[in-house]
Amino acid sequence: MYNREQAQEVFLRYAAQYDMENILIRHKVEHTIRVAELSGRYANALGMDGEDADFAWLLGLLHDIGRFEQARRYGTFVDSQSVDHAELSADLLFRDRLMNRFLKGGPAEEGLPGDGMTDDGPEAEGLPGDWRLIAETAIRLHNKLALPEMLDSRTRRFAEVLRDADKTDIFRVIASIPFEDRVGSSQASFTETEEASPEVMACVLEHRCVPSGIRHSRFEGHISHCCMAFELVFEVSRRTVQEEGWLRSLLAEKDTEGKQIWTDRQTEQIRVLRHEIEKWLVTSG
Ligand SMILES: [Fe+2]
Repeated sequence: MYNREQAQEVFLRYAAQYDMENILIRHKVEHTIRVAELSGRYANALGMDGEDADFAWLLGLLHDIGRFEQARRYGTFVDSQSVDHAELSADLLFRDRLMNRFLKGGPAEEGLPGDGMTDDGPEAEGLPGDWRLIAETAIRLHNKLALPEMLDSRTRRFAEVLRDADKTDIFRVIASIPFEDRVGSSQASFTETEEASPEVMACVLEHRCVPSGIRHSRFEGHISHCCMAFELVFEVSRRTVQEEGWLRSLLAEKDTEGKQIWTDRQTEQIRVLRHEIEKWLVTSG
């Protein structure tokens, strides 16, 4: 259907058409390559072999393809201020047929979506029907708070592998890249508050993700990112997150120079969060 090397080359050529001076774009290329690698690795660990592991890898490579158009059109990665990037990724791949470029024998034309792109063959040719549906579903759902109940088990498995791989690398992105370099010049409309609200802390205590509608401050945004750990499905993902250590650094009270990062009240809440996440990571296997 495709080979990894060729698909990665197509991806890098596609990304290179965008502004590589833009730090948002460069980080997104790195994130994508990491998510592809993690997806393939998780699939192998789960006993998905051969074609399935390759396919999981491909979904990692393509899941954020819409990020490049999002940055070009809106200058931000903040979905609430622009577009749902997962929907845009799936639309570009399956409605504008960008997917065809990544499949063996698919058209190799260059060009940006909506910019004279000429992939006008049948939709996602070379991708068997059920795989096309799995790919589109997994990519569309990769950033949603939760997966819908009615997914069949095979689609769910691919969607979960992708979501776990994505979250694993998001901890690295958040811990290692300054806020402005992650979201772009159009800032999220975050206020500064002294402490996280009872609603946000209830999510922490109940071990669930924080819905976007109830997080209003930068601190609540930070808590919400850490709470993504509660949604990790597979033991291999939770182990990888612990081994990589990025989440641990997000839960730190002090910076590398030993200075307290948060106010006293926020530090207390970070302690609660860290305790809950550590407890959960250890006991949920
Ligand atoms: Fe994404």
